[in-house]
Amino acid sequence: MTLAPFRPFVVAIDGPAAAGKGTLALALADRLGLPHLDTGLLYRAIGKLMAIRGFDLDDAELAGEFARALDPEDLKRDDLRGREAGELASRVAVHPQVRAALVDFQRAFAARPPGAVLDGRDIGTVICPDAQVKIYVTASPEVRARRRTDELLAKGRDVRYETILAETKERDDRDANRAVAPLRPAPDAVVLDTSDLDRAGALSAALAIAAAKRTAEG
Ligand code: DC
Repeated sequence: MTLAPFRPFVVAIDGPAAAGKGTLALALADRLGLPHLDTGLLYRAIGKLMAIRGFDLDDAELAGEFARALDPEDLKRDDLRGREAGELASRVAVHPQVRAALVDFQRAFAARPPGAVLDGRDIGTVICPDAQVKIYVTASPEVRARRRTDELLAKGRDVRYETILAETKERDDRDANRAVAPLRPAPDAVVLDTSDLDRAGALSAALAIAAAKRTAEG
């Protein structure tokens, strides 16, 4: 009897900002017993490191150099989570040099047995087009802006829903209309709209999608 070569089980979670992908990807990874990579952190770290040194984020060549020099330790910085780092990330993410430099790191993470859950914008389309499970998590801009506003208000921040809604739409626009790896669902992704789902509801829907694929894989 010959054994089929082991194929790592890869789950690609993509979608716009604040759709709940990060929370869902973490919970899914935990339930499936797989490591998780939040790929947004790669772009956030590059944006932040450049901004701290006062470099021009629109300089594609320089941003590419930062991407090639990125150290996995940089992903542990504690200043990468906020809105400001998200904005910086979205700006450096438009550069093809940056995206190209990050491909191998992400693919190597996914290829290590037993597999992985990766969340981002182009995981199912560019980074792991052969992922067994592809979920495109989305929600209306209004619902995403409302969730983000509530999160920030709960942290004691002084924010207005209208401002967050405008920022959300601006970020969607930049992510969806860039020339390289624009945000869009892979043709074989299952679209999961979380507008009317809470965290538990989104997780059980995603688990059902993953279970169906795992069964189909045999
Ligand atoms: O998921 P996030 O909010 O951490 O992402 C921050 C920015 O990084 C987002 O506006 C677009 C970019 N990004 C990307 O282009 N590709 C990815 N795989 C992940 C993030």
